[in-house]
Amino acid sequence: MPPRKIIIDTDPGQDDAVAILLALASPEELEVLGITAVAGNVPLPLTQKNARIVCELAGKADVKVHAGCDRPLKRRLVTAEHVHGASGLNGPALPDPVMPLQQAHAVDFIIDTLRGEPSESVTLCPLGPLTNIATAFARAPDIVGRVAEIVLMGGAYFEVGNITPAAEFNIYVDPEAAEIVFASGAPLTVMPLDVTHRALVTRERNEAFRALPGTVGPAVAAMTDFFERFDREKYGAEGAPLHDPCVTAYLLRPDLFRGRHINVEIETQGRLTTGMTVADWWRVSGRAPNATFMREIDAEGFFDLLTERLARL
Ligand code: RIB
Ligand code: CA
Repeated sequence: MPPRKIIIDTDPGQDDAVAILLALASPEELEVLGITAVAGNVPLPLTQKNARIVCELAGKADVKVHAGCDRPLKRRLVTAEHVHGASGLNGPALPDPVMPLQQAHAVDFIIDTLRGEPSESVTLCPLGPLTNIATAFARAPDIVGRVAEIVLMGGAYFEVGNITPAAEFNIYVDPEAAEIVFASGAPLTVMPLDVTHRALVTRERNEAFRALPGTVGPAVAAMTDFFERFDREKYGAEGAPLHDPCVTAYLLRPDLFRGRHINVEIETQGRLTTGMTVADWWRVSGRAPNATFMREIDAEGFFDLLTERLARL
């Protein structure tokens, strides 16, 4: 079976970095057509730089990295240096990238790739705010029907918000973009905090990363050493939640996850709830299902997969 063609849309971010590494470590299953950077955890100049740093860390300097939107559709940019550090990749000391940034804007790359590849052969994997994806859909509505699936990290329901009491960061930063994507009709699989907060890098799991041969494992361990402090302090968590790698892991091992196909709407007008993913888990709204919203993860299986694949780089 040929590898699945994917575009990773991302705002690195340590957890984005691990998601990208997991994808690049799995060429038999995933063909990364390109990586599109978006403003989110840190501003765009840093997310596009960090995406290239991660590709070079993986030894994959031939990956096409494109810079995309530098701010949300309508709102001012909210960033998360308090979680990821000033660079967005605090933790390991990694060299500045040598590989080039592609000239084409990320939105043009997404549109051209979806138009150029066979219909329903490309999966979009957003790991940050949905600005690039929504802009592409708004500018070229014809590509929506050509998307095989969107598998994104974002939202929360039972776990409630992490940037406000009601909203998860990726959705909160650009709720209008999320509204466009969730209403697009493209097949949608969502990895919310309900799942990612169960993918915790415990000390034992992080030491397994650190003990891996080569440079990737120790670099991931150093990223997690930095990234975990926020969740340990805020939630008393036993480690950093690997949010974005849940997207890549789902592509490789969907059996590790369980959820429901339900209606999920995005709150864009709420005085206190803007950015909330209103997930009709109990199917009381009568609104048509538009997303497979994940709630359970086999965390041991997830970390076994991740550790085994990182060892390949
Ligand atoms: O809320 C977690 C999400 O926001 C993750 O994608 C993290 O990288 C940040 O973008
Ligand atoms: Ca992210």
